[in-house]
Amino acid sequence: MRIDIVTIFPEFFDVLDLSLLGKARQSGLIELGVHNLRDHTHDRHRTVDDTPYGGGAGMVMKPEPWGAALDAIFGEPDSVEADAAPGPILIFPSPAGEQFTQAMARELSKQPHLVFACGRYEGIDQRVVDHFQARGEVRLVSLGDYVLNGGEVAVMAMIEAVGRLIPGVVGNPESLVEESHEGGLLEYPSYTKPASWRGLDVPPVLLSGNHGAISTWRHDQQLERTRRVRPDLLPPAV
Ligand code: ADE
Repeated sequence: MRIDIVTIFPEFFDVLDLSLLGKARQSGLIELGVHNLRDHTHDRHRTVDDTPYGGGAGMVMKPEPWGAALDAIFGEPDSVEADAAPGPILIFPSPAGEQFTQAMARELSKQPHLVFACGRYEGIDQRVVDHFQARGEVRLVSLGDYVLNGGEVAVMAMIEAVGRLIPGVVGNPESLVEESHEGGLLEYPSYTKPASWRGLDVPPVLLSGNHGAISTWRHDQQLERTRRVRPDLLPPAV
């Protein structure tokens, strides 16, 4: 998969050199391009924002640098051939977007090319979204019902959630199956050695070697946990 990110803080994404995603980049499973929006400005101050039409607090990101930065990835507006293959999906992280979920992460993990446009301030001039919507698939995606200072943290979370679902990125694919949100229930609690630590014992069933009993216990734990902290995830009949 190819991932492009446009941001005014390219250094923010240096951490994508680390850990599983870093390895996935080294092995070529993920190809990453991080682009500085300010490289597409033409004034001395490399200005990317301006005051909002209609008044109000805060600043809005100007359309011209965004248009130029995204054209550099998508191609010039007129250069698209009528029978060209579908282009990349363009994602604007935004608290006004649809909610990011594990299902969306799975869907996005099957795409060949994602482009993330990290807004700051009070957002990006709406015409950037409108223009690129006319050229291909565009999604506004929110990490959750809270406001971040910009899209970078949200994009980092989305890339991690999407990247680890690309086949080969996580060493043992079975570890993806039992996780929270894949089966609809939250994950059961996990334990490792030692069997007793600071007076707390590992639940005896896990030491029993009885795989049926372990499986039942884990499922019960999932149900109990989900009922307690995320009842909204339970199917209606449970
Ligand atoms: N930018 C600011 N807040 C955000 C959020 N909750 N999700 C995605 N992008 C954001």
